[in-house]
Amino acid sequence: MDVDEILTGLYSEQGRQNPYPWYAALHAHGPISAIPTRPEHSTVSAVAAGYDLVDQVLRDPQWCKGAPPGWQDQEILRTFMSSMMFTDPPDHTRMRAVFAKTFTPRRLGALEPVIVRVVDTMLDRIAEAGAGGAEVDFVADFAYPVPALVMAEFIGLPEADLPWYRQRVDWIDEFMDVAGKTPERLARANQAAAELRDYYRELIGHRRRQPGEDLISGLVEALDSGDVELTEEELISNLIVLFNASFVTTVYMFSNGLPLLLAHPDTVGALPGDDGLARGCVDEVLRMESPVHFLARAAPRDTVLGGVPVRQGENVLLIIAGANRDPARFPDPDRFDPRRSGPPSLAFGVGLHFCLGSAVSKLEGRLALPRLLARFPELTVTRPPSYSGSLFLRGIDKLFVSTGGKERA
Ligand code: HEM
Repeated sequence: MDVDEILTGLYSEQGRQNPYPWYAALHAHGPISAIPTRPEHSTVSAVAAGYDLVDQVLRDPQWCKGAPPGWQDQEILRTFMSSMMFTDPPDHTRMRAVFAKTFTPRRLGALEPVIVRVVDTMLDRIAEAGAGGAEVDFVADFAYPVPALVMAEFIGLPEADLPWYRQRVDWIDEFMDVAGKTPERLARANQAAAELRDYYRELIGHRRRQPGEDLISGLVEALDSGDVELTEEELISNLIVLFNASFVTTVYMFSNGLPLLLAHPDTVGALPGDDGLARGCVDEVLRMESPVHFLARAAPRDTVLGGVPVRQGENVLLIIAGANRDPARFPDPDRFDPRRSGPPSLAFGVGLHFCLGSAVSKLEGRLALPRLLARFPELTVTRPPSYSGSLFLRGIDKLFVSTGGKERA
């Protein structure tokens, strides 16, 4: 199979359901391949899934994010381009420093009881809805509300606003998919960005008058005292991007992870009470079923990468979910092994833009999964899972399960 055929297969319906055979086919071509036939206007000239090569590009600060053409004319792109996730140094360094300071061990410690409370509330909901063994949608009743409620409390978003907010997150995520740049999706993403900006302006005003313990209150105070190098508009862009980045990713960590765990009853049986195993399970779920599949970086100059020429400003598509199954770095890569040693997965990226919230998600996974499986020891998946259809953020958006009517107090 040549690289064009692999990419056509990957973007097809079948590829979206299960991209891993196509990633394996890419590995057979080597760590990086030129894209022979490029769609018009595409700036992506090569695709890489080799672990070492992807790791090398992400760690090299010269490989940058770049700016999409015409970004000044679109509200969504203006929002992206004034946030840490989409900018390069020095703006990235300045904005990230402000937020990095707020992700302290103290704040993370304070989140533990919040996570346990939210998880236990959702487990009660599953127990109630699944009484007598009735089917429950694990995504609607657990995987979605747990990260949403935890992050809402962390950032300081009123819980009642979450359903409204979620629709805007979906519009932005649709636009971010590899095939998402249609005029309709762009219009919806622009609308979402405009509405979210108004929303945050109002919320910031409210927190300024009545501060709380949350992230927004802390940041507004720092901003007003002149302690941080950030404008209010940049604060808003970063809050939008932060919540977006935190949310569906963690939903998919849970929804992609559960079937994988349930297919390994020995692990499930040993999980409650074994914190080391719980950490290993979270890492292995994120390696095998990474919620984020692709990143991209632009070449700083004309160069040759792994034998493939890349011109200045052209992008290389970095398939982190493929790198996480690179047989050269993860022997027997399709096998779930929570006790695996070896390099860290690239599920959270690496280098300058390494995920700011990785500790938050890992904590959620490590606390939630053992509680779930201890309380419902006979949990089973009752129907084939349904995937969201996005390749960029890949995950199960409906997962019917049954507790078998059995529950341990
Ligand atoms: C399992 C859950 C998560 C996954 C798989 C994930 C994945 C990632 C990845 C791959 C990147 C790197 C982007 C790049 O290099 O271009 C990233 C960046 C980021 N993530 Fe996460 N993330 C998760 C959860 C979170 C959470 C909970 C938060 C917030 C509390 C968060 C906030 C961010 C931010 C702000 C960035 C941008 C950092 C920067 O550009 O310097 N993420 N994430």
